[in-house]
Amino acid sequence: MILTSLLTVVLASLAQLTVAQVDDTQGPILYDLAHNATVITGTWTSGSKAVVTGEGFCDPVKLTFTYPKNTGVSFSFSGDGHYEIARYRFNGNGSDPTCITGVIGWVHGTYTLNANGSIWMRPFGDGFQQIQDPCAAVSNFIETYNETEYYKGWRIFSDPNDGPKLHLYQFDGSPVAPLFQVSTTPSMFPTKLLRNDTFISVSRRSLEEEEEDLARRDSSATVDRRLSISGVLGAAGLLTAAGVSMML
Ligand SMILES: *[C@@H]1O[C@H](CO)[C@@H](O)[C@H](O)[C@H]1NC(C)=O
Ligand SMILES: *[C@@H]1O[C@H](CO)[C@@H](O)[C@H](O)[C@H]1NC(C)=O
Ligand SMILES: *[C@@H]1O[C@H](CO)[C@@H](O)[C@H](O)[C@H]1NC(C)=O
Ligand SMILES: *[C@@H]1O[C@H](CO)[C@@H](O)[C@H](O)[C@H]1NC(C)=O
Ligand SMILES: *[C@@H]1O[C@H](CO)[C@@H](O)[C@H](O)[C@H]1NC(C)=O
Repeated sequence: MILTSLLTVVLASLAQLTVAQVDDTQGPILYDLAHNATVITGTWTSGSKAVVTGEGFCDPVKLTFTYPKNTGVSFSFSGDGHYEIARYRFNGNGSDPTCITGVIGWVHGTYTLNANGSIWMRPFGDGFQQIQDPCAAVSNFIETYNETEYYKGWRIFSDPNDGPKLHLYQFDGSPVAPLFQVSTTPSMFPTKLLRNDTFISVSRRSLEEEEEDLARRDSSATVDRRLSISGVLGAAGLLTAAGVSMML
């Protein structure tokens, strides 16, 4: 009983501390043990640990994802200022509960830990996401994702059971799900631009059809799928630039 109420008090003060520390109008932040029990470098993932950054999550050149078993989010940070994010989530629809949208996305770039405790993450330009929306006119499409992200604050606590636990607070102060460290060395793609193109949005179906067409034409089975897709994307970029919708 006493232990429980003590624990409650400790947890409550921890929560207060957490909230107080995400105030990015104060500073400079003291990056001490109380602020971050360890360094931020490594790979972090939420709850089920199904989503992890790095080569197993997607192929940024072919614009494909390997769907994880569960939803979640993962961040990696390198010691030399690079980050990578993998996300997979479902968004509900208040007006129509059967219209659940699936969003899976990947992005990488450079980050800075700022004196006021915030983090800027600036993408390279090759990030992409796939949206599956059964109720939309285009139910499955891929688009570029190149958002610069601002996090108001971060803390790393040492959880007695789960080890280091990273808390990130988004631009509006809302917390990202707690992230557990899966490795101290980051699991990341090469930290540079991995694809050059100007596409904005392309339907997944058109990519697959293009691949099938190519496979039919070239039965020698040495189909360069990469070329096929970048061909489609190149065309998509041009069409989009010309104001023609690529959505099928
Ligand atoms: C915190 O620092 C970053 C980087 O210098 C800056 O962009 C941001 O505006 C600062 N936040 C506030 C509330 O001043
Ligand atoms: C907390 O983070 C800062 C900034 O990266 C780092 O210099 C420091 O070593 C970290 N503290 C611990 C205890 O790892
Ligand atoms: C919710 O679903 C309806 C179709 O039933 C759609 O018109 C609307 O745009 C959806 N809202 C969101 C936020 O996705
Ligand atoms: C992506 O965003 C970064 C940071 O704002 C910017 O420097 C870069 O030019 C953008 N790339 C593309 C392809 O839009
Ligand atoms: C992107 O284009 C630049 C300039 O032409 C080139 O140096 C770079 O190697 C290209 N990157 C990729 C991943 O194709």
